[in-house]
Amino acid sequence: MTGLDALTAARGVLYGGDWNPEQWTPDVWREDVALMRAAGVNLVSVGIFSWATLEPEPGRFDTAWLDEVLDLLHDAGIAVDLATPTASPPPWLAHRYPETSAVDAHGVRMSVGSRNHFCPGSQVFRDHVEAVVRHLVDRYADHPAVAMWHVGNELGQTCWCDRCAERLRTWLRARYGDVDALNAAWATAFWSQRYSSFDEVVPPRAAPYLHNPAAELDFRRFTSDQLRDLYRLQAGIVRERSDAPVTTNFMNFFPGVDQHTWADDVDVVADDCYTDPADASSPARAALAHDLVRGVRRGEPWLLMEQAAGAVNWRAHNVPKSTGAMVLDSLRAVAHGADGVCYFQWRASTGGAERFHSAMVPHAGPDTDLHRAVRAQGALLQRLRPVVGARVDARVALVFDWPSWWAGELLPARPSMRLDVLGRLAAYHEPLWRAGIATDVVPPSADLDGYDLVVVPSLHAVTDADAANVARVPERGGVLLVGPFSAVADEHARVRRGRFPVPWADVLGASGEDWRPLDDAGLRVASDRYGAFTATTWSEHVRSDGAEVLATYADGDLAGLPALTRRTHGDGEAWYVTTVPPRDVLAAVVADCLTAAGVTAPLTDVPDGVEVARRGDVLFVLNRTRGKQVVRIPGPATDLLSGDGVADELLLPAEGAAALHLAPTERTR
Ligand code: GLA
Ligand code: ZN
Repeated sequence: MTGLDALTAARGVLYGGDWNPEQWTPDVWREDVALMRAAGVNLVSVGIFSWATLEPEPGRFDTAWLDEVLDLLHDAGIAVDLATPTASPPPWLAHRYPETSAVDAHGVRMSVGSRNHFCPGSQVFRDHVEAVVRHLVDRYADHPAVAMWHVGNELGQTCWCDRCAERLRTWLRARYGDVDALNAAWATAFWSQRYSSFDEVVPPRAAPYLHNPAAELDFRRFTSDQLRDLYRLQAGIVRERSDAPVTTNFMNFFPGVDQHTWADDVDVVADDCYTDPADASSPARAALAHDLVRGVRRGEPWLLMEQAAGAVNWRAHNVPKSTGAMVLDSLRAVAHGADGVCYFQWRASTGGAERFHSAMVPHAGPDTDLHRAVRAQGALLQRLRPVVGARVDARVALVFDWPSWWAGELLPARPSMRLDVLGRLAAYHEPLWRAGIATDVVPPSADLDGYDLVVVPSLHAVTDADAANVARVPERGGVLLVGPFSAVADEHARVRRGRFPVPWADVLGASGEDWRPLDDAGLRVASDRYGAFTATTWSEHVRSDGAEVLATYADGDLAGLPALTRRTHGDGEAWYVTTVPPRDVLAAVVADCLTAAGVTAPLTDVPDGVEVARRGDVLFVLNRTRGKQVVRIPGPATDLLSGDGVADELLLPAEGAAALHLAPTERTR
């Protein structure tokens, strides 16, 4: 059982969006619900920013409007994902209790007039949250329309106020027990930072120069935990009265929330994903984001809670999606494990800061190409019932976790700010995605046994236990591919002593002594296997301790030293890339690792711009190009989207797609 089963059993793929009826009059509600039905919408998120409407004055609740809205939706057979309205408290709260608003690192208190200005640690805020959530839950827990709960919205607040400072100290006491343990973990002998009591610790507020990196890491951990606490407060109230699944919308690679530590708190992983039509790397990045969120609850089907139907309003220049790309974005999410695709938002707001954000019903109304495409998409998604609940069977894992990202990319004063964790992750993911190879993004603590290839592009900070977990991969016959600047630090960002990567030097059969960021000219590399190429950004002074050297640096101090190594372990292999190779070289390395691991692509000779992804017994083929494409497939299949049989050649129109239902596979894990 997964959190979405009850919903999808009756409805198939979920389809809908945020709906903000408090911005509209009842005649528009009725028109909206009729349009939703016509579009095949079966799930809407209601009330996300409705606190000021629900509780116009402290303790006075007005729910008459919401009664009517929920009844309308229920009569139309549309399920409701009911939000706790706590993402944006009403102005009266900050006016009466200034301490309910967050304070930034410079001591500036956030003002009302926007949204999300609350301090997540404020007890007064939490008391008011509790009151409004209780009121909502008491009233609607048994309402037949309510099928899911949406706690807050994009939880992500960081606060440096005095109250949060107290809560940080409590958190640190629980983590370290006594202050000497904190001093050791934070290496406070440096710059006279030794604390004689927890009472002296403050959040990393504005300071003259660099902060202590371990303190910054712990502050990020604390902030994520404090937000989870606020989530738990609300989810707990819901769960007292309701069995419907509870979730909140994550923002995939958002630094503020360590989603892996929230996995057991959400019944369903929900994500907001906004591709940028003006950015050619956007489809690959979206696929990576989907592979990340799918991994949070170990491969369970997830929900794309928000995306844009056309343009967003928050980039400097907002190129809209074509209607074809809108559909491809949705199909990509389903192909990567989503059981539902929803939007921000149903009807475009006429006022407020998001008045230029696209919606499923634009300002111009339903007689528009965009809305017709929304309607057609609803019908299309209904045909994908056979994939609902199916898993993505990935044999490749890409290792990523938040603390390592924080330490390896978001802390300043590293050897290079150009070697970025997410950039590296995307670089290693891209050839896998391009080949249509299913890949799970997982933390280093995950059970890695089911994966034939484990790729660690840039795992800067790692605990001993997690490092040992990764090191077992080649020893049990799998293939491990490690990128540069990995396993450099422990969980407190303290650099490990010895030849690097200290915990993996044995398994790699290679070890290093020095990191060497490169100047703009880069460094030539010679390789019989991959040809000559220029390494950029980064190099490492490494020697082989028994590994086969597959490429060597050709110039400078590192001339003749390994750039790329491979050590075999029986059937297993451990590869080490010490630099940033060009895209084609990295693709060739990844291809070799796939061969060594015995992982093959679902299709070969796929034209450029055509994307392949397999989920269960369905192979999605998405043509992002503006031209027709022909794709050869290995055997007869049925296209779920068109209903047609396909023999061995699939003809895809411009921005067209197919979902090929294949015979069940040999391999089921
Ligand atoms: C986020 C929020 C929404 C809306 C959209 C706009 O995802 O959750 O409320 O602001 O961005 O893109
Ligand atoms: Zn605070």
